[in-house]
Amino acid sequence: MTNSMISVVLLLCGYVRTEPARFDNHKVLQITPHSSEELEQVLAIHDLYDLDMWRHPRMGNHSLDVYVEPEKLKSVLTALKNLGSHVKIWIDDLQKLIDQEKSSMKRSIRFPYTSQGRSQGFNHFTYHRYSTINQYLRDIETATASMPSVNASVFTMGYTYEGREVNVLKVTRGDGESRPSIFIDGGIHAREWIAPATVLYFINQMVYWDDYAPQLLNKFDWYFAPLLNPDGYEYSHTTYRLWRKNRADHSRNCYGTDLNRNFGFRWNPSVGGSTNECSDVYSGSQAFSEKESQSLRTFILSNKQNMIAYLTYHSYGQMWLYPWGYTSAFPQDWRELEAAAKAGTSALAQLYGSNYIVGSSTNVLYSAAGGSDDWAKGSAGVKYSYTIELRDTGKHGFVLPVDEIEPNCRESWRGLAEFALSLNTNMRRKKIGDRYKSRL
Ligand code: ARG
Ligand code: ZN
Repeated sequence: MTNSMISVVLLLCGYVRTEPARFDNHKVLQITPHSSEELEQVLAIHDLYDLDMWRHPRMGNHSLDVYVEPEKLKSVLTALKNLGSHVKIWIDDLQKLIDQEKSSMKRSIRFPYTSQGRSQGFNHFTYHRYSTINQYLRDIETATASMPSVNASVFTMGYTYEGREVNVLKVTRGDGESRPSIFIDGGIHAREWIAPATVLYFINQMVYWDDYAPQLLNKFDWYFAPLLNPDGYEYSHTTYRLWRKNRADHSRNCYGTDLNRNFGFRWNPSVGGSTNECSDVYSGSQAFSEKESQSLRTFILSNKQNMIAYLTYHSYGQMWLYPWGYTSAFPQDWRELEAAAKAGTSALAQLYGSNYIVGSSTNVLYSAAGGSDDWAKGSAGVKYSYTIELRDTGKHGFVLPVDEIEPNCRESWRGLAEFALSLNTNMRRKKIGDRYKSRL
């Protein structure tokens, strides 16, 4: 039987496992326009060819990274050449990066636990699948049942479009006292694999009582939701490595809503989102149209009384961003948010010298309404709300090599710890909340 006959038979039996999409010769170009006028023209080319911008130009730095499929490459390069912009091939063959990632994950992903046994011997330095991540959370819950100084419990915040669980692990001192809480999530965007890996590492450090853990648990209760968008995440593993959105079916051949455009504080598709279901930044049919964002909303609203900080982990770009994303205006208490972020980034930098930029997301990155960070602060009243963009600064982008997971996690843990310890937990939350609300 020929290969194609085999495929036909398998197809008829419904057995076919479609091969993952390939990215051979897909490139990322680094474009440096000479002036802001030229930048405008580069952006026009970006729009014309419907390209995916991997790194956005910032004030004072006009260069940008743009992802280009092979079919478009020739015309895009010609257009840029005519403009006279400086163009560098930044990533030459995305498939190569993906292949390297795959081969370095091969063993570790099948055997997530080392000989040290369940949970304690978990291999944190690879990218795990949804079911392994869930199992890990359950294993941690079980393991802490016999630990005197820490308690961890899994809560299912809700279910995804395709019916997967959206889970959060609450980690406390386990002494019955309730403390100010910090909520941490990862994986809102499917392809940003380093984010769930980082949140899982935080859990490990906390539960196994590493360096900072006693102080952090004495001061706070912790919520960790490592994987907010498991449908998209699984799809990025099985089918399309660069998937960003969830997997809601819009039945016009297009799937997915950008969950980080779907939150209901100043929701507005025309600010950094889109009303086009096929767009990578589709904002949804209305605020909170998606089950995944609804799950987070419900959980945070029912636990917000004591919640002092909300941190959502993304990649990439190495930034510690505070609101707002929907406007270039600053929140009234931005100085406090900035100071706490800087406590985090300067501690983080001490380990390997990684440089993180601190600022409001509109001013550092771009404006985009409907982010979970804006909602946590603006609607739920969680004072210290941030989006953290992890490694790297574009060398590998979303396909961060497996051997960078460990240094990324170690520095991020230190950053998180010093950030949290810098917070003033004695603030009178109610008062501050009121004052803040009246000035929105
Ligand atoms: N990379 C993130 C995104 O595009 C940044 C979010 C920053 N926060 C915001 N509210 N825009 O979704
Ligand atoms: Zn993201």
